[in-house]
Amino acid sequence: MKARAPRQAPSPGPLRGRDLARTDAEDRPAPRAGAPLRTILLAPGADLAGFRAALRGLVAEGVPPERVAWSSGAAPELFGATEAPAAGAPVPLPRAVADLVPMVVPHRDPERYALLHALIWRILRGERQLLEVASDPLVHRLALMRKAIQRDLHKMHAFLRFRRVPENAGTERFVAWFEPEHHILEAAAPFFVERFRALRWTILTPEGSALWDGAALRFGPPGRREDVPPGDGFEAGWRDYYESTFNPARTNLRAMRAEMPKKYWHNMPETAAIPGLIRAAGARTAAMIEREPQMPTKRQPARAVAAMAEQDPTSLDELNAIIRRTEPLVPGATQAVLGEGPVGATVAFVGEQPGDQEDRQGRPFVGPAGQLLARAMAEAGLVRGEAYLTNAVKHFKFEERGKRRIHQKPTAGEVSHYRWWLDRELEFVAPKLVVALGATAVLALTGKAVPITRARGPFRFERFDNRFQGFITVHPSYLLRLPDEAKAEAYAQFVDDLRRVEALAQELAA
Ligand code: URA
Repeated sequence: MKARAPRQAPSPGPLRGRDLARTDAEDRPAPRAGAPLRTILLAPGADLAGFRAALRGLVAEGVPPERVAWSSGAAPELFGATEAPAAGAPVPLPRAVADLVPMVVPHRDPERYALLHALIWRILRGERQLLEVASDPLVHRLALMRKAIQRDLHKMHAFLRFRRVPENAGTERFVAWFEPEHHILEAAAPFFVERFRALRWTILTPEGSALWDGAALRFGPPGRREDVPPGDGFEAGWRDYYESTFNPARTNLRAMRAEMPKKYWHNMPETAAIPGLIRAAGARTAAMIEREPQMPTKRQPARAVAAMAEQDPTSLDELNAIIRRTEPLVPGATQAVLGEGPVGATVAFVGEQPGDQEDRQGRPFVGPAGQLLARAMAEAGLVRGEAYLTNAVKHFKFEERGKRRIHQKPTAGEVSHYRWWLDRELEFVAPKLVVALGATAVLALTGKAVPITRARGPFRFERFDNRFQGFITVHPSYLLRLPDEAKAEAYAQFVDDLRRVEALAQELAA
């Protein structure tokens, strides 16, 4: 993809000594006599593949960070001759480091590649736990960069607005303009594929564009704001939606400005409504208080999902606080049932939704299916307290029959409503292996219906981009529902699956 040369954001100050190989032309370290300075030229923007390839070569050749100048799209003659490093084998890195790299590469800081190289160099020289040393200046700086990218991604996901453009033959395309702070277009685009898979859309930015044609995602040249048409009917929809969800009792101008910087307002039709809404906030609050008892009981999924996506939790505790505060999509549940188990657990189990007992006790897998799971885990050598247990859907859905509350399977819409939570949860827990228990968990993790009988066993959940390995097995409540004569064999098979999970977990933990 062609892109404009990156703007250079002010960097938070130089790091010293072995922490960093400086890359700015103005303060690059003078080459030590004897060893020539290597200049690595990468594509403009976020060149993750280029960085990985160059890093492999540099590691294979044992070139230290202070001997390398990383250049991103700048004229190589400024830095002397460039020389591609030899091809090298994949560099074995702790998972946390491998996960950090794609979250730093999109940063605008021209030192990003050098900082990552310095980090990896130190890790490969024995500082395996380096990322855990939050006070280390290099680790601290990289953590800030990761946070900046997370924030930028969040803003793009929350504040980008599409406008409808009619095309020939009666078809239509949706086009949006956005100006991210960092080079995040490629990292941000899959979110829109998932959310607007059925539409054909283009996102234009000053550095490049992303185009989804309903089947494939492509990246192309930069766009211009003028290429996006002004308001349309779709915009009126956004504005109405925003007006209907605007909560005058929570008007906090400072927070609004911080979260939705003015810079994005011109893209967002609903912001046209903000000044008027604020002016009328007092009267609307009073009216809302009066209206409260007549509020609809059925929640609106689109609204709730939009509200969720605008949250930006930075830890599992913060995420759980959000889940706890959020009302069930289908009314009735006593409380949200959160995941349970240690952050960093090697294995996470994902079930369907809490049952009657779980809803009463506020803990996952404590009812009959949970007890069966615990028994099978113990037989397979898995310790329940060491695993993370959670559900695709966080609230119990049921139908009342007399005094009994009969479990109702969540619909695909409900599963996708809760998916944002599950994704964030798995990000924070960061397991090495995720076990999907039954079809609902598989739907939540893959985004599509996959028959358990065909997929049972190790499985790759593509949505998660190899962040963890996957495994599919049946849900324990399926075993409870089987006729007696089929139970023993199905249970033995389930325990066999869990033994495979245990073996995989051992391998991955090692
Ligand atoms: N079934 C599930 O999927 N989860 C629970 O927590 C309990 C039963």
